[in-house]
Amino acid sequence: MDRRRVLAGIVATPLAAAPLAASVAAAGPALAAGAPAAGAPAGGERRRSTLVIGHRGASGYRPEHTLASYELAARMGADFVEPDLVPTKDGVLVCRHEPEIGGTTNVADHPEFAGRKKTTSLDGVATTGWFTEDFTLAELKTLRAKERLPEVRQENTLYDGLFEIPTFAEVLDLRARLSKELGREIGVYPETKHPTYFAKAGLALEQRLVDTLNRYGLNRREAAVFVQSFETTNLAQLRRLGLRTSVVQLLSAEGAPFDLVDAGDRRTYADLVTPAGLRAIAAYATGIGPDKLQVIPKAADGTLGRPTSLVTDAHAAGLVLHPYTFRAENNFLPADYRRGTSTSDFGRAIDEQVAYLKAGIDGLFTDQADIGVLARAVAAGQSIAATQPSPHSAI
Ligand code: G3P
Ligand code: CA
Repeated sequence: MDRRRVLAGIVATPLAAAPLAASVAAAGPALAAGAPAAGAPAGGERRRSTLVIGHRGASGYRPEHTLASYELAARMGADFVEPDLVPTKDGVLVCRHEPEIGGTTNVADHPEFAGRKKTTSLDGVATTGWFTEDFTLAELKTLRAKERLPEVRQENTLYDGLFEIPTFAEVLDLRARLSKELGREIGVYPETKHPTYFAKAGLALEQRLVDTLNRYGLNRREAAVFVQSFETTNLAQLRRLGLRTSVVQLLSAEGAPFDLVDAGDRRTYADLVTPAGLRAIAAYATGIGPDKLQVIPKAADGTLGRPTSLVTDAHAAGLVLHPYTFRAENNFLPADYRRGTSTSDFGRAIDEQVAYLKAGIDGLFTDQADIGVLARAVAAGQSIAATQPSPHSAI
């Protein structure tokens, strides 16, 4: 497999849907005026603790977006598990990072689906493969997940072919069961993927998400739920549809939200992270989810640089910050945090996360929840438990 394509898949920032000002204005006078959204929890509520968010579950140890991955993250101590959501042809929300499923399932090995392969424009990028919107849930359930990054995460290929594509509802069932068993509430941090793309396909995500949260009693201001999006319009739309949970505006170090692009609005993510942009976000969101490099960029030589003003600016706007994505492998670490020469070996990931935590972030998305939990304890000067859950024994 082409390594650049593989890595592009894991770092791709899904962009999608409408002008921020228009979105905010459409959400009502209170939002347009910059007042707190009616259903939005105060930032302080979520700032009391530093959150470890299991990115795509425990995707450093299991194929991403499988129940096994989410369960392992929770057992490793993650406060939240993070399902990315896309719809099926029959309108069911399922957990995949993108509509295209050739990179993370065995669909290519199913001759009965060979005719579904197509090339389509995904947020302006020609993309070839198989797409969730062309499959019913029953059809998707015949597929099995596989590791996205087999070169970097060879060990995860052990599990190829074992796990189904989960529905969002199944994740909420899992979350409820594990919360009871572990004696602590496991939160859920769903991301709406490609909202503009799916709205144009007649499969809008937003009402389905609100309905599902309502069905599980989770559409509450104080629920352990953050709804996130790289687009802007659909977050305001979710509020209009009655979403009451916390909301996080995802940001990127480059480019623009696809809803803005699609509407001909020239503003970019760089405009959203100005103090004025952050104040506008605070009208409808609890926090922001920036690329970690927007918090501490790399220096020219690839080493970890100096913090930007983003933490200070976001907190001044009343927003919490949950940057993405912390990964333990050398491949994803700053040059001065690597150990050895193998891209797949673990480097000084705890030290990297401690540096970010000391910069003032309020939580982090990580593929290795156990490392996030350790880093949080180290940063807080807490004692480290003698035994940590093993990725192999936790399930
Ligand atoms: O949602 C936070 C983080 O997951 C964003 O990146 O592309 O992994 O969904 P992505
Ligand atoms: Ca995500």
